[in-house]
Amino acid sequence: WVLMATGRSPTNIAVIKYWGKRDEALILPVNDSISVTLDPDHLSATTTVAVSPAFSSDRMWLNGKEISLSGGRFQSCLREIRKRACDFEDEKKGIKIKKEDWEKLHVHIASYNNFPTAAGLASSAAGFACLVFTLGKLMNVKEDYGELSSIARQGSGSACRSIYGGFVKWCMGKKDDGSDSIAVQLADEAHWKDLVIIIAVVSSKQKETSSTTGMRDSVETSPLLQYRAQTVVPSRVLKMEEAIKHHDFESFAKLTCADSNQFHAVCLDTSPPIFYMNDTSHRIISLVEKWNQSEGSPQVAYTFDAGPNAVLIARNRKTAALLLQKLLYYFPPQDKDLSSYLVGDKSIL
Ligand code: DP6
Repeated sequence: WVLMATGRSPTNIAVIKYWGKRDEALILPVNDSISVTLDPDHLSATTTVAVSPAFSSDRMWLNGKEISLSGGRFQSCLREIRKRACDFEDEKKGIKIKKEDWEKLHVHIASYNNFPTAAGLASSAAGFACLVFTLGKLMNVKEDYGELSSIARQGSGSACRSIYGGFVKWCMGKKDDGSDSIAVQLADEAHWKDLVIIIAVVSSKQKETSSTTGMRDSVETSPLLQYRAQTVVPSRVLKMEEAIKHHDFESFAKLTCADSNQFHAVCLDTSPPIFYMNDTSHRIISLVEKWNQSEGSPQVAYTFDAGPNAVLIARNRKTAALLLQKLLYYFPPQDKDLSSYLVGDKSIL
């Protein structure tokens, strides 16, 4: 017999960034972060996990290609889910698995991203969230989402926020064992329906410095990182929570842009400096800043992760349509720097 489960998780975009770990093995961050989870039709991972007595080892395929499962992060997620597995019975199929039997059964995992991994857009957040969620479903894990988020966190920090939709906060926690470093939902998907997210793919190359390596170097060498984590982020998180609660786009946009810029300032403050944004990224920032200034209040927020691609958040659909027009005017499709746009709302196209 074979038992299967399938799940889907979207990626998330941080508006208050996670950058720096206080514990590398458990993936515990130096500050809280806040993100918005994209709608699952765009940029999501779909994962099917199967278990069978016929399987002789754990195996995984990513977008159809087998990948090694020897990495500590996969093993942590698998181990933590197996620990929490419960009795399972399917009378019709005659399958009965006792709690303790899950340890002996091997899994086969097939995961697909509905966006090109090569586009340089973070796929680990959606991937690990989906893996943990689906394994939990298969193994009849009864734990709540908070607990699942702390397991997904051990796959990739940002993955803990993709367990929920809507606006999500990852609370850094204080405990050494990481049990209080979990994600909580601040507001669900329906809360701020006006916002439209447009991702301008500036470069489809894989990033040169991974987030994991980059943040390790920042923790070791950047004095700005300590100041940011201890002094800036705590009050920024409170303000961001208020902005989200009250649909206050002006504060939301100002905080989002400021936090992205400070994260990239920390990267520059790292030795040797890390350059994630390029000239095209800088031109997009100028375009948005000038537009926001000419309107007298922010219309669009920008944020950049560990790469040059711009995530643009428009205050409503009308602004998003205008933004797309501007992008196409300043960066016509033949412009090699900005080869394609991925749009968070198909109807805009
Ligand atoms: C810039 O979650 O990819 O996107 O925990 O080492 O796997 P690891 O790092 P990862 O880092 C994400 C960094 C970021 C900001 C964010 O998503 O908060």
